Amino acid sequence: MRLVVLLLIALPLLADDFFEKKIRPVFATKCQVCHGAKLQSGGVNFTTAEGFTKAKGKIVEVLSYTGKVKMPPGAKLNDEQISDIGTWIASGAVWPETAAVAKQPEQTHWAFRPVAKVTPPSVSDPKWVKSPVDAFILAKLDEKNLKPAPPASKLALLARDLRSHGIASLVG
Ligand code: HEC
Repeated sequence: MRLVVLLLIALPLLADDFFEKKIRPVFATKCQVCHGAKLQSGGVNFTTAEGFTKAKGKIVEVLSYTGKVKMPPGAKLNDEQISDIGTWIASGAVWPETAAVAKQPEQTHWAFRPVAKVTPPSVSDPKWVKSPVDAFILAKLDEKNLKPAPPASKLALLARDLRSHGIASLVG
């Protein structure tokens, strides 16, 4: 009896593990660019359990490259990936509830997020801020209780410029 209870608890966990290691990464890297939250080519969306369930019946065929529609286009998955997905679909293909939308790369990676307007932070010395970028620098200095260096003299700037051009011997 105890064993049965254990199995009942363990099996879904094992299935989740298989999904996380073998299934989700393939869908995330090979399919979701075209079948994700932003783009649903052919009406297929692999970021939700619902979208997945709708397309389930066609997946093995498109992966096998035997029919008219071949997925992913132009680059067949390797045999192991295809057989893992086949196994997973044959075993009922549960898209775990824990496959939360937030975990998908296009939702979290900065490169997939839309450009947003950012308000520069408020700083100890607003006069020092000549461009909005300065506010971010000064805010970090403030955080660490540091003060910005005083502005360089014209001569010092010229010396830096010459050095950066490799004419250091002229300015010492
Ligand atoms: C570069 C974009 C792209 C990628 C990547 C891609 N697909 Fe597709 N997929 C499409 C387009 C476009 C269609 C619809 C056009 C068509 O039917 O040929 C489609 C259609 C489908 C369909 C529906 C087929 C049908 O007969 O209705 C399935 C299932 C599918 N894709 C699965 C996948 C899977 C699984 C992956 C990843 C292994 C994947 N796709 C990767 C572009 C893509």
